[in-house]
Amino acid sequence: MKLSGQSWIVAKSFYISFKNFIIRVISLSWVFSSIYYAFFSRTFIREQRSVIGGLIRHFDDLKNNSSFFLLRRNIHRIEKGLVMPNRRPIFAKEYIGETVDFYIKCVSQSSAEHVPREITWARDVLLSYFNSVDSEPLVNKAKKTFFSLEQKDNVALSVPYSRSEQTTLIPHKDLKLLVNKRKSTRVFLNKTVPRDLVDKALNIAALAPTSCNRQPTHYRIYDEPELVKKMAHLPLGTLGFADNIPMICALTGDLSAYSYERDRHSIYIDGSLSAMLFMLALETVGLASCPLNWAEINELDRKFADTVGIPIHERVIMFIAIGYPDPNGLVAFSEKKDLDLLRSYNKVAKR
Ligand SMILES: Cc1cc2nc3c(=O)[nH]c(=O)nc-3n(C[C@H](O)[C@H](O)[C@H](O)COP(=O)(O)O)c2cc1C
Repeated sequence: MKLSGQSWIVAKSFYISFKNFIIRVISLSWVFSSIYYAFFSRTFIREQRSVIGGLIRHFDDLKNNSSFFLLRRNIHRIEKGLVMPNRRPIFAKEYIGETVDFYIKCVSQSSAEHVPREITWARDVLLSYFNSVDSEPLVNKAKKTFFSLEQKDNVALSVPYSRSEQTTLIPHKDLKLLVNKRKSTRVFLNKTVPRDLVDKALNIAALAPTSCNRQPTHYRIYDEPELVKKMAHLPLGTLGFADNIPMICALTGDLSAYSYERDRHSIYIDGSLSAMLFMLALETVGLASCPLNWAEINELDRKFADTVGIPIHERVIMFIAIGYPDPNGLVAFSEKKDLDLLRSYNKVAKR
């Protein structure tokens, strides 16, 4: 049934009043809100399944000692211990054993022809760790296991280094130029996007900080016309320019990287930090982009998962349209907040 303009306004106003009433009622107690979301709303249902799916995968990986996520997290914790100004003579003894186990398992899963950089990094940090901590039964046990695989006199290169080695000051104006150049672009040339340029930008995106260096994000890129077409129509915000997008990327996050439900938002934070670098880097190779909102709609999630076959614990963070900007196309001005609205110093609100 198609509503007329006036009926649509009336229906929308009724919906807002009804929703307003419901949320005020359920806000009275966490019991009300829990009942509401358990029995009357399916809003969080897929997210909950994803979180549970992530935990199942996570604990399976833990059981098999085969988690690259956990290897990265633990190696990161050891690096943190190594860079502390007053380094303790013994640290990480609670998890050094499992870290060496993860390391051995991850090495066994990599091919001899191509050793991933993170394996070399883990080896170097472990070498550096065992060469600097004092003797202690748990540490000694892990050390023995580690050196049954590695040579004691291997050179460790991927280890903490001094910031004084980075002396180049990047001019502020250069960064400003780049940041100002990036604009959400919705009008692209009908021109193939070279993958090597995108990969160049992805190498920059990979440098983004991530919580405990877990690196849970993945760029699923589509440049095959039929797939691009399907994908471009999935996000709600591509109305009017979906058919003009030459390449599209779904940025996803893997919830199996975490041991606790409390970390479920980390994928969105890590993914967004990486996406920003990616979009800036695209500008440096002559490409433009538009981030695309991925609304929490169960059916959309299911549609995407069914189309490309991703596991339940992999969540979409956002889509990104990519292409050569049409020099004759317009971009929105999109004024930004004044500094006074953007920030406050030492503000303590009275409640
Ligand atoms: C997470 C996110 C989701 C967005 N979703 C859409 C979208 O669905 N459709 C769209 O046209 N623009 C989308 N945008 C682009 C914003 O509209 C744009 O960033 C904003 O208006 C500021 O403009 P600028 O990026 O050119 O500075 C999105 C931006 C972000 C960060």
